[in-house]
Amino acid sequence: MPEVRDHLAIALDTDDLVEALRLAKAVQPWFGVAKVGLELFCAEGPDAVTALNEMGFKVFLDVKLHDIPTTVNRAARVLGALGPAYVTLHAQPGPVTLRAGVDGLAEGAAAAGVDPPVALAVTVLTSDPDAPAHILGQRVAAAVAAGCGGIVCATADVREAKQLAPRLLAVVPGIRPAGSDPNDQARPATPGAALTAGADLLVVGRAVTRADDQAAAAEAIAGEVSVAARG
Ligand code: C5P
Repeated sequence: MPEVRDHLAIALDTDDLVEALRLAKAVQPWFGVAKVGLELFCAEGPDAVTALNEMGFKVFLDVKLHDIPTTVNRAARVLGALGPAYVTLHAQPGPVTLRAGVDGLAEGAAAAGVDPPVALAVTVLTSDPDAPAHILGQRVAAAVAAGCGGIVCATADVREAKQLAPRLLAVVPGIRPAGSDPNDQARPATPGAALTAGADLLVVGRAVTRADDQAAAAEAIAGEVSVAARG
């Protein structure tokens, strides 16, 4: 793992851009990717992507598009033009809808003269403990068929997903340092465990954002990732 920062995404889950940018700045020495989720994007829209790009972050736009193919395609075009590095699409509607999203992202990026984002298919929400066992394989296959560059899955699913599709990036939320509160994550994992399982990008939210000392929490997670990457 050449550069730990490129493998750590901070989830800026707030409805206020000033607060999001302050948090992003506080953890920027250790996090190279800034995740704009539904809360921030609904509140602040494209300005959030532009501001974080200007700060030098790779932007991860986590809007989990889920609709009919035409609607996903047209929304993806708009998002692709904003210059994010990663955009999530929900895998549940299947390969045709995912492909409409992948194509839309590429078309929007080309029209704006920016690099196309990596399309990430969301397999199973990490808050869901009850998804049937066959779902992961079905959604990974849909992601491959649709030309996605990666998937979002729980740490517990990374090994199986990588066996099915070794070239897909595995993006893993639900990261918690040992002994910390899992909140609503049913399948959490430590940063070291996620990395050892084969995760390429770790999404970290409340373990840092709700810490009394956010910079110290970020530094500790980056340290654990660094050690796991060397081991
Ligand atoms: O605070 P926490 O570390 O649990 O943050 C999780 C973040 O990752 C949230 O922004 C959530 O939307 C996102 N996410 C997730 N599970 C998925 C996909 C995204 O928790 N499967």
